[in-house]
Amino acid sequence: MNCYRLIDKEWNVDFVIKVGGADKQRSACVVLGIFESRKLTDAAKNIDAATDGYVSNILRTGDMNGKLGTTLLLHNLPAIPSKRILLVGLGQEKEYNSKAFRTAMLSVMNALLRTAVSEAGLFLLDIPLKDRDLPWKISQTAMLASECAYRFDALKSKSESESSPLSKVTLYLSDRTHLKIAEIALMQGTAIAQGMKVAKDLGNLAPNICTPSYLAKRALDMSKFHKLKVSVLGQKEMEKLKMGALLAVAKGSHQPAKLIILEYRGGAKTEKPIVLVGKGITFDTGGISLKPAAEMDEMKYDMCGAASVLGTLTAVAEMALPLNVVGIIPTTENMPGGNATKPGDVVTSMSGQTIEILNTDAEGRLILCDALTYAERYNPEAVIDIATLTGACVIALGHVASGLMSNNDQLAGELLQAAELSIDQAWRLPLWDDYQDLLKSNFADMANIGGRSAGTISAACFLARFADKYRWAHLDIAGTAWKSGKEKGSTGRPVPLLTQFLISRATRKLAHSR
Ligand code: BES
Ligand code: MN
Ligand code: ZN
Repeated sequence: MNCYRLIDKEWNVDFVIKVGGADKQRSACVVLGIFESRKLTDAAKNIDAATDGYVSNILRTGDMNGKLGTTLLLHNLPAIPSKRILLVGLGQEKEYNSKAFRTAMLSVMNALLRTAVSEAGLFLLDIPLKDRDLPWKISQTAMLASECAYRFDALKSKSESESSPLSKVTLYLSDRTHLKIAEIALMQGTAIAQGMKVAKDLGNLAPNICTPSYLAKRALDMSKFHKLKVSVLGQKEMEKLKMGALLAVAKGSHQPAKLIILEYRGGAKTEKPIVLVGKGITFDTGGISLKPAAEMDEMKYDMCGAASVLGTLTAVAEMALPLNVVGIIPTTENMPGGNATKPGDVVTSMSGQTIEILNTDAEGRLILCDALTYAERYNPEAVIDIATLTGACVIALGHVASGLMSNNDQLAGELLQAAELSIDQAWRLPLWDDYQDLLKSNFADMANIGGRSAGTISAACFLARFADKYRWAHLDIAGTAWKSGKEKGSTGRPVPLLTQFLISRATRKLAHSR
């Protein structure tokens, strides 16, 4: 249960939780916190006493004063079994909050990955945080460790990064009182980290490799390792279902479109499932409404909604959550071509509503609308779609928060809470009917674009017309799913948000049934 595996061959770290004092542990590297200025935490005091004031003497030299995120590695301390001590600055004690914790933990992991130790013991989890509890600290530790260790060199002929020998991290607690909940939190944190890794790897893959067929294959592979039922629909089946909107996007591509369905049944047979719908455009050229060339490569990330569904289901299956969860992934490329959909084309969606496609670059909503109609057959408890849907969302919320829109206040509230808890922020935008006018068409039931104003909301308004049969929320992750520039890469978001949402639901359910 404590085994934390990055699918990556280079880095495989086991996390374990132990109870004990710092001075007695035979750990290759003991990690201790220091507050500003030079104030020892309890575990640091314990080592200081055992080493006859060694730590406080070092602090007196001025080499480390506890400033947040700084580290100092010490060797060969007298009278204790550990060869190394890593001191980490925690900043001002009265300001020690979740943000400071994350900064400090990132520094610790980065420092440990640079040493030659294969095992380390962290004495940081008992230190009280103003705004979070122990399970939060533990699951964040697992996620942050994975964040630090993540490399993507699957497509390089030689791996560039030196692999770290670190293979085991022990999280020490001073007493047994909370051991059980700590272990559950560790199991959940590692599951989320694993889900994020799945999402990141898929996002980062090149678009000539990560095609709709590739996504389908990966989903089918998942069913070999996890308790999941996976089915894949092809062109013929989608035609039979009359998915005219989805198929209109696929027309310009030589890669066959797919509809991937994953079913996880951890709850009672009769229990309604949560349905996750992920946008899976494996490359978005814009189609005939072609995008400009600059940074177009980043449109390989236009399947990050789909990747987050696969990542979240991995985490859910890993934790064996007592819920029913269904993933639906409409996936295709959006390409120009002789047979591609043209601006002005009118298509009929699976719902029967007709759509005038005024801009072929507004393709995400076209594949999602048919998937949302398809979701009705699961009689869902709620449906959440996840999509890199609009550039306007990046303008509105930047790269910090995902956009959240919903037809149900309670569902929106639950998602915002999960976002807060998992530090995978989201911000709600309104979905008032007044905005629906933006989608008026002279020739069909609606247009697929709403003009320049409120682009994120008009896109959601479009989707809302296909999601009126159930509680529904939409996450626009255009600004949060990946980073551009020097640090270009997938973030794994919003796997933490979605997984936390499901964990919270499962936990509440268990509490009620007791
Ligand atoms: N995948 C894009 C949205 C996107 C653009 C995400 C840039 C992240 C960065 C989506 O398919 C798209 O092209 N949307 C258009 C919609 C417009 C034509 C109404 C957009 O946002 O420009
Ligand atoms: Mn587009
Ligand atoms: Zn797109």
